[in-house]
Amino acid sequence: MSGSVSASILAGIQAEEPYFPVPLASLRPDTVTGFDLYLRSDPDQPPVLYREKHLPFTEQVRERLEISRVEVLYIQTAQAQQYRRYIEQNLGAILTDKKLPMEDKSEVLYTTAQGLVREMLQDPSKGDAIQRSAGLAESTVQFMHQQKTAFEHLLKVTSYDYQTYTHSVNVCVYAVALAQRAYRLDFPTLLEFGQGALFHDVGKSMIDPLILNSRTRLSDEQWEIMKRHPVLGYDLLEKADGLGDIGLDIVRHHHEKISGKGYPDGLRGGSISPYVRMVAVADVFDALTTRRPHRQAMSSFKALKLMHEEMLADLDKELFTIFVKMMGNPRGD
Ligand SMILES: [Fe+2]
Ligand SMILES: [Fe+2]
Repeated sequence: MSGSVSASILAGIQAEEPYFPVPLASLRPDTVTGFDLYLRSDPDQPPVLYREKHLPFTEQVRERLEISRVEVLYIQTAQAQQYRRYIEQNLGAILTDKKLPMEDKSEVLYTTAQGLVREMLQDPSKGDAIQRSAGLAESTVQFMHQQKTAFEHLLKVTSYDYQTYTHSVNVCVYAVALAQRAYRLDFPTLLEFGQGALFHDVGKSMIDPLILNSRTRLSDEQWEIMKRHPVLGYDLLEKADGLGDIGLDIVRHHHEKISGKGYPDGLRGGSISPYVRMVAVADVFDALTTRRPHRQAMSSFKALKLMHEEMLADLDKELFTIFVKMMGNPRGD
């Protein structure tokens, strides 16, 4: 399976194509999927119905497909929601399946995370959106905690197109990897930290999209509105009882700077927690290395160089150094 599959799943969903591809690896034997499965043998023809949604997807079916070298099946875009729910429910089994290669696990996780966070950001207060995203952060942290090469594999499927939802997932992955190298956090702490990182920009869901997606420089007035997102996110999550104290601290303070020139509370130096400092490094790095409508993505090297030369007064120097080493050696040998 290639990295382009996850990109095309999202692209298909976004463009409202009638079908989108899913990796065979994401389908669990002996489950009733709840969505119809299609096969496409001719790229110029629409996919044809292979298995109806109420039939169990058995080991034999999976083997047959594997023998025929089928790696990708198709689902109707109208059933995308069912697919995402299905993956969420089976994510634990997928990520701990010894037979599945790390490439496939990473891709299924990353794609699921993007889709779910995208849905959550459209209306975080709707239904159980926050709880589901928090559960997703748990799967991600668990995966990175249990599999030594997880970060390296997740980096390979990372999207470099900036959207608030891809950015949220990327920052979570970078920040958890950094925390694993910088501190010996126990699992519950690492989990709360990862959830905070995933939710750090949730307040942007309440900012006018015209400001959020502006292709031109923001006016002073627009910038003041944009700067409200940490407090908006904090208030939302505090009310929803969705995060612990570490997570809330991250959401509120991720734009504070060591120099004291950040916002919203103008904290400086030692009053900014190590959790916030780690997310701040990951946040700046991902913002620089992803494509925006108005500018190209920077290479990792250039981004780290820029951070070193121009932003070091705002960031935690020691954590930045660990981050640079981590990006140079994502496997952590
Ligand atoms: Fe932010
Ligand atoms: Fe951010």
